Amino acid sequence: MSHPKIARPDHEILDVIRERWSPRAFDPSRPVARADLLRLFEAARWAPSSANEQPWRFVVADRRESPESFDALLGSLEGRNPVWAAQAPLLVLIAVRLTLERNDAVNAHAWYDAGQAVAFLTLQATSMGLSIRQMEGFDAARARAACRVPAPFQPGVVMAIGYAGDPALLEHERHRDAERQPRSRRAIAEFVFQGVWDAPLR
Ligand SMILES: Cc1cc2nc3c(=O)[nH]c(=O)nc-3n(C[C@H](O)[C@H](O)[C@H](O)COP(=O)(O)O)c2cc1C
Repeated sequence: MSHPKIARPDHEILDVIRERWSPRAFDPSRPVARADLLRLFEAARWAPSSANEQPWRFVVADRRESPESFDALLGSLEGRNPVWAAQAPLLVLIAVRLTLERNDAVNAHAWYDAGQAVAFLTLQATSMGLSIRQMEGFDAARARAACRVPAPFQPGVVMAIGYAGDPALLEHERHRDAERQPRSRRAIAEFVFQGVWDAPLR
C-alpha cells in the first residue's frame, strides 16, 4: 500500500496500527451507520481499567440527526479545529469520571483508562474503514454546557469520526499539506530502556 500515512514500522505490527492515522478531511456525504457506531463503543467497553471503574463516558453529536447538538459541540472547538471538523458526520465528547464511584476518592488512573478505551475504539474504527481525529483544542466549559456533563466528570477530548475525505477540500493549505505528509515517530531506543533509564534495549 502506498498511502503516505501508512506507517513503515521497524518491526512487524498489526495492520490496524499501521493503517490508523488522523485525518482532518472527512467525507461529508457519508454518514456512519448506527450499528457501526455501536461497534466502536463496544470496543471501548472492553478496554481494561483500574479497579474496573470504566471512568469513560461518550456524548455523540450526529451532524444529520441532531444538528443542534452537533453545532453546540462544534461551537466549543478552538483555533482551526471547527473549520475542518464541521464536515465530520460525528463529533463525540469524551468525559472522564475523576473520582472513584465507591468512595469519591481521586482516581489517579482515570485519564490513563479513558485513553485506553479511546485507543481500543480507534483501532476498531480503523478495522472498519472509519477514521478518527481527536482534539484537545476545545473549551471544556462550553463542551460541558453543550453536552450537559455533570460535575464528577471532566471533558477530556472531542473526536471527529467518519470516513476520510478528499484533502483537496480542506480550507487551509497547511491542513491540506499535512494530510499528505508521512507520519513520523521517535525511534524505540528513545523511549524504551533496559533495566535503567537511558540504557538501550538490545
Ligand atoms: C489527546 C489528543 C489531542 C489532539 N488534539 C488535536 C487538535 O486539537 N487538533 C488537531 O488537529 N489534531 C489533534 N490531535 C491529533 C494529533 O495531532 C495526531 O494524532 C498526531 O499528530 C499524530 O498523527 P496520527 O494520529 O495521524 O498518527 C490530537 C490527538 C490527541 C491524541
